[in-house]
Amino acid sequence: MKKLAVIGNPISHSLSPSIHSIFAKTLGIDIQYDAVEIETKGFEDRLASLFSEGYSGLNVTLPLKEQAFALAKKHTETCSATQSANTLWKENGVLCADSTDGAGLMEDLIFKGLNIKGSNIVVLGAGGSSKAILPSLLKAEPKEVIILNRTIAKAINLAEIYNNDKVKVSAGSLIEELPFESDGLINTTSAGLLGQELIHPKNLFNLNSWSYDLSYGEETTKFNELAKKNNVSRVHDGLGMLFRQAALSFKIWTDLKPDVEEAMKIFRI
Ligand code: ATR
Repeated sequence: MKKLAVIGNPISHSLSPSIHSIFAKTLGIDIQYDAVEIETKGFEDRLASLFSEGYSGLNVTLPLKEQAFALAKKHTETCSATQSANTLWKENGVLCADSTDGAGLMEDLIFKGLNIKGSNIVVLGAGGSSKAILPSLLKAEPKEVIILNRTIAKAINLAEIYNNDKVKVSAGSLIEELPFESDGLINTTSAGLLGQELIHPKNLFNLNSWSYDLSYGEETTKFNELAKKNNVSRVHDGLGMLFRQAALSFKIWTDLKPDVEEAMKIFRI
């Protein structure tokens, strides 16, 4: 039986144990998937002991993603681009890392029929989640991406890293007007989760754009409520991304690809 876990702090509210258990059930395999709270201090030793206790795969969440990246000896291309890791495993004793959040988001956007290629995309937020999705987003060749952040220096920093010949990536504050009409909005900020208001440019929303909030919950997220109030009709939360990034991790550890739609149906019952 495979022993797997999600590690982070806090960890008790993580949905990963339920999601991975559903994947295993639908695929007819036996796994143990735990939620393990880990401090940033002493992380390297704790990681080594988890592998020696028989864990063969780990999901990594806040605040350990960057540390996990730094400790891994082998990284996928996306993982190197994001400089953070959400999936760890060992190959011939070597600690390997991937970052499946961006690919999970892209799979979910495609599934929902939301087009990136040739589109003007607004990414709100320049923290860890934003960094994790930007490389995958740019690979899908949008026309332009603007990163808006409360602390503009962080948005400028990301724009400088990711601007390239194929896709113009720029930065802005939350109060300036957008330089284009947006086709899609991706909210990566934690404002809603923190119960805080999100200041936004006057022309952020338009009738024809869609909105994707990386947050999720039983009710419509605060950002999607705001989008709906501003007449955006296609609003989506990040539950699909959560399942799809999990499925990509599960595939790395087991070589089996879960049926995400079926798993989501079971999860909702
Ligand atoms: P995560 O890993 O979830 O991205 P993070 O790295 O702490 O978490 O990033 C949180 C993001 O939400 C940041 O972009 C943050 O903006 P700042 O860089 O200015 O802190 C953004 N954020 C949090 N609360 C916000 C609020 N009330 N209004 C606007 N942006 C907010």
